[in-house]
Amino acid sequence: MIGAMRIVVAHSEPGAGLAWRRELATRLPGATVLVDAGSPDGRDPAHAAQVATEAFVADWAVGWSPPADFFARHRALRGFFSAGAGVDGLLRHPGMPPALTVVRLEDAGMAELMADYCLHELLRLAGRFDEYAAHQAAARWVEHAPIPRDEMPVGVLGVGVLGMHVARRLASAGFTVRGYARTPRSIDGVDVLHGADGWHAFLAATRVLILLAPRTPETEDLIDADALSRLKPDGWLINIARGALVVDADLIAALDTRRLAGATLDVFREEPLPASHPFWHHPRIHVTPHVSGPTQVAVSAAQVAAKLAALARGEAVGGVVDRTRGY
Ligand code: NAP
Ligand code: GLV
Repeated sequence: MIGAMRIVVAHSEPGAGLAWRRELATRLPGATVLVDAGSPDGRDPAHAAQVATEAFVADWAVGWSPPADFFARHRALRGFFSAGAGVDGLLRHPGMPPALTVVRLEDAGMAELMADYCLHELLRLAGRFDEYAAHQAAARWVEHAPIPRDEMPVGVLGVGVLGMHVARRLASAGFTVRGYARTPRSIDGVDVLHGADGWHAFLAATRVLILLAPRTPETEDLIDADALSRLKPDGWLINIARGALVVDADLIAALDTRRLAGATLDVFREEPLPASHPFWHHPRIHVTPHVSGPTQVAVSAAQVAAKLAALARGEAVGGVVDRTRGY
């Protein structure tokens, strides 16, 4: 029964816990939704009335990067709803119970924003805008022919909820798009490869490689010197998945030897990216601060509330993480 639900929200960003609490409470009338006492919003005395006391026994949790002692303080949870699509951080939380149900966001407004991000980068490349920026700095009037789209085959590594949307959008914009997944997948207008043989064929056919696979033991360090050397000449890497998929030193070496033309990086092994990291000042790397697919709280809370309501009716929901495969 929804009315009897007790939900605790634990979010590492100040303000986000309260926003999620408000959005969930509006959509789940009768449920009790409180902020975790150990999260930034819960520690702020101004919000004491909205904070879970020790006596509050939560049966569901919602959040992002909960505090270290979160699972020790909430022992009766039936499940945790991630406030993001990726669950790699949550699954690596030292207190995460091994059998707890984890549910991730499915699109929830992120896919279209990520497609915009990738399309923006592809059009910048095709239009040679980096070259014009360099010419402007030197007050030089030089014209270039744009790179034809059929000379920029795109490969999307990971064609799940987000990758499939990105692949379709780019294909409909006139790019030749291939996908690569762990298992066979079928997407209209996009050739999807899988398996060990498919991996090398996928890379060899790709000039712009977009990463949209989850961080798992299988994908960590997947984009190393070998993978980068298999891309078409003048390749470009766009990483909007997780920093750990890429071997940083191999990426820099590939750029410095001109094996790769450039990279657009939204995600990093350490975030915020340390000021001393060479990515910041590399002439052919574009850095954005993990903004390609920001969580849309209202849309996401509506999705989580609908799933909680379905669970209360005894129905199955999508987005349940397979704890063995890690996504
Ligand atoms: P998803 O629906 O679970 O899709 C994951 C895709 O990756 C699937 O196609 C899956 O293959 C593939 N994959 C998994 N392991 C693989 C492997 N070893 N080799 C090749 N492909 C593999 O996930 P999603 O919702 O699309 O999200 C993808 C990731 O995007 C998240 O995990 C998160 O890290 C990242 N993300 C980033 C941002 C940002 O702001 N930068 C925002 C949201 C999400 P199968 O189809 O065979 O299962
Ligand atoms: C953001 O990185 C997410 O996983 O939603």
